[in-house]
Amino acid sequence: MTILVTGGAGFIGSNFIFHMLEAHPGYRIVCLDKLTYAGNLSTLRQVMDHSRFRFVKADICDREAVFSLFEEERPDIVVNFAAETHVDRSIDDPGIFLRTNIMGTQTLMDAGLRYGIKRYHQVSTDEVYGDLPLDRPDLFFTEETPVRTSSPYSASKASADLLVMAYHRTFGLPVTVSRCSNNYGPYQFPEKLIPLMIANCLNDKPLPVFGQGLNVRDWLYVEDHCRAIDLIIHKGRTGEVYNVGGHNEMRNIDIVRLICRELGKPESLITYVTDRKGHDLRYAIDPAKIHRELGWLPETRFEDGIRKTIAWYLENRTWWEEIVSGEYRDYYAKMYGNR
Ligand code: NAD
Ligand code: TYD
Repeated sequence: MTILVTGGAGFIGSNFIFHMLEAHPGYRIVCLDKLTYAGNLSTLRQVMDHSRFRFVKADICDREAVFSLFEEERPDIVVNFAAETHVDRSIDDPGIFLRTNIMGTQTLMDAGLRYGIKRYHQVSTDEVYGDLPLDRPDLFFTEETPVRTSSPYSASKASADLLVMAYHRTFGLPVTVSRCSNNYGPYQFPEKLIPLMIANCLNDKPLPVFGQGLNVRDWLYVEDHCRAIDLIIHKGRTGEVYNVGGHNEMRNIDIVRLICRELGKPESLITYVTDRKGHDLRYAIDPAKIHRELGWLPETRFEDGIRKTIAWYLENRTWWEEIVSGEYRDYYAKMYGNR
């Protein structure tokens, strides 16, 4: 069995590669990644020399490169993580989101059709459902919730999902889609809330909370997401969408306070900054379908997951310090300088 993992030098893709190499001793994993600012080869260092792993640097929009890799490797399954993923960057410059997230998905599916893959899995997000009101804790996203996007990022992910379902219906491509809530864990790029706050705390820098910090996200430890995808590609029904989330809703401000406490830093580091445009209020997943059909449940409680994550960032300072000292500095100045 050969699995092509796109975007495997990023946060969730790399964790998925580690999981699959360990969980399936007979599988070969080929990772295709463009190595954008978010992709980091040092993340994959521990598997680079693995006999069942191969890394290929390429763009999922590059038809020639994608088709020649399919010709060479004849993957059985494709799991597409490759994407532009940061909402704030999509507000700043939407174009690359449309190109990678939509056109890249099309290229991979065209190659999948040409080479007769057994499964195409699209890693999507709960953000395609838009947001829920803060004063209705009884409401959750189910797979039947209409797509209703807020940011160029979520609009590009929703567009790709629609295209994936169209390739299933029109061309018979055996597809599945997972829509997961916010992930956290090792190797997450420090532009996202949790690693950004950990890195800033450790450097005694201000902690920029958007608006009043009352927005709610439903956090899932990355390993639980990887196990869900593993189950879906093996046992999920084709043509189906599966929501993935662990009923772990938290307000941003409570997460930031928790990180301060865990690291012994004062809450006076917290700085309230101008809110994100179109900022989604609340995400909350109903994971009943994946539980009922595939028996999936999250295994890591948030209290344990966040401690493990903080410990990882403490033990792997060089990994993130190399990032925050590079071009990230310009990004940070642009995004937070006058906020
Ligand atoms: P990430 O930004 O950490 O990594 C993205 C990876 O994709 C990087 O390695 C990058 O180099 C690669 N990439 C980008 N453009 C590419 C291109 N054109 N060709 C090839 N490779 C390219 O992202 P992540 O947080 O690991 O997210 C992975 C997937 O999971 C995305 O599709 C995202 O929408 C989805 N998702 C993420 C979350 C989350 O909380 N992080 C939640 C739900 C769904
Ligand atoms: P983020 O990690 O960017 O994920 P997403 O927007 O995809 O949910 O942000 C999570 C939440 O944290 C979101 O409500 C925005 C907020 N946030 C801040 O308050 N400050 C920050 O510096 C960042 C990056 C995010």
